[in-house]
Amino acid sequence: MAKKLFIKTYGCQMNVYDSARMAELLAPLGYAATEDARDADMVILNTCHIREKASEKVFSELGRLRADRRERGAAGEGMIVAVAGCVAQAEGAEIIRRAPEVDIVLGPQTYHRLPELVARATRARAEKVAKPGPFRGAGLLDTEFPAESKFDALTVAETSPVSAFLAVQEGCDKFCTFCVVPYTRGAEFSRPVAQIIAEAKALVAGGAREVTLLGQNVNAYHGEAADGSTWSLARLIRALADRVPDLMRIRYTTSHPRDMDDDLIAAHGDVPQLMPFLHLPVQSGSDRMLEAMNRQHGADLFRRVVGRLRDARPDLTLSSDFIVGFPGETEVDFAATMDLVRETGFVMAYSFKYSPRAGTPAAVMPAQVPEAEKDARLAQLQDLLNTQQRDFNRATVGKVLPVLLEKTGRREGQLVGKTPYAQAVHIDADPAMLGRMIDVRIEDLGRFSLKGSVETMPFVTAHSPMEVRA
Ligand code: 5AD
Ligand code: SF4
Repeated sequence: MAKKLFIKTYGCQMNVYDSARMAELLAPLGYAATEDARDADMVILNTCHIREKASEKVFSELGRLRADRRERGAAGEGMIVAVAGCVAQAEGAEIIRRAPEVDIVLGPQTYHRLPELVARATRARAEKVAKPGPFRGAGLLDTEFPAESKFDALTVAETSPVSAFLAVQEGCDKFCTFCVVPYTRGAEFSRPVAQIIAEAKALVAGGAREVTLLGQNVNAYHGEAADGSTWSLARLIRALADRVPDLMRIRYTTSHPRDMDDDLIAAHGDVPQLMPFLHLPVQSGSDRMLEAMNRQHGADLFRRVVGRLRDARPDLTLSSDFIVGFPGETEVDFAATMDLVRETGFVMAYSFKYSPRAGTPAAVMPAQVPEAEKDARLAQLQDLLNTQQRDFNRATVGKVLPVLLEKTGRREGQLVGKTPYAQAVHIDADPAMLGRMIDVRIEDLGRFSLKGSVETMPFVTAHSPMEVRA
């Protein structure tokens, strides 16, 4: 009988990608996915460390699992528990100390060793169960930054979602003063070109029609090609567009304003598969704050890059990340962020209160901003960002847009797709249409998505890259 695997994923899209790869690594061991932890023979918590309370969340989830385990059997020996991801990397030893029932703690760069760790944990379990005394997990810890690349050991499943993630780059060397990523994910690393193209082809063969190229700093990509040369992200995108038939849409995230080079900007104008929606975190509109954050650019560079992107692709829409209440942030600094948002116009955004992370330089900077001040600024910023998002969505009502049908909706007969601008649209359509690009008339604004109706349903639409290539 198949063993059941439950993975709970926190945080960024890279973690979503990693969770899918972990599931694939465990499939040959007989593990199939379940949606219910109480059913599971193995549970993986794939954790995120980016903002506060991350580790507390992990410990409370482990507490819940303890109860689930108790239900499964006296000693809970039937369930292997692993903690993966960035909290595991940062606080692995502490996890094993505080939660001795955990079997495996493994970091973002060692999860390809999961099959071996699971085998060892299973063996250790069998030995422990035979002994009396309180229940303890195997307590295996593997959070090194290994010499080998996990990507060499990874596979992709036979079937892929219509919109799939493809990690092309890992880690970060930027060391923004607020951020844990350079510590938890390690040094910047780019996968070789051939490996990425092969993975993209496998994803498309499995049903994907869109790939989102992932990296903590994806536009710093500098991967090795077969001839020994180094390729940029733009070159990689052009190659994917040319060499992977049926790949209709390409996106990438997360990018850094400083790494938007000329060719990448140009690609937004001349690669039809590259979608006109870009997540470009700016964090703040104040030069003083950007300097203190070690972002290595000013607000002006961001404005210039956005201007050039819009020259290349006039309908380009933007999303971003913002931090309010960074140490030393004054009302004047915050006003500069509000000005930048008003001037740029974002169709979506993530905004956060600054959260001090132990071990990062900003955590010990003087002039930490009081919580109430952070709350007030966040509310003001989110109000503006929400208005911009609503205005943009409202402006698409009545328009006909090419929508890639990605998954079934909650209601029977309903599909969910995305516009080029990454807006979710609900449409009544036949599930056989999944994976197709159709023209949709946007009818109305829902609470979290748009509602649309099928306008035309040719096999290949005028907006499809297949037609553009023909
Ligand atoms: N506090 C608040 N927000 C943070 N981010 C990263 N670190 C912190 C922190 N310490 C935000 C940044 C980043 C996004 C992924 O998370 O905006 O772009
Ligand atoms: Fe963190 Fe800055 Fe690297 Fe982004 S660029 S992952 S915010 S250190």
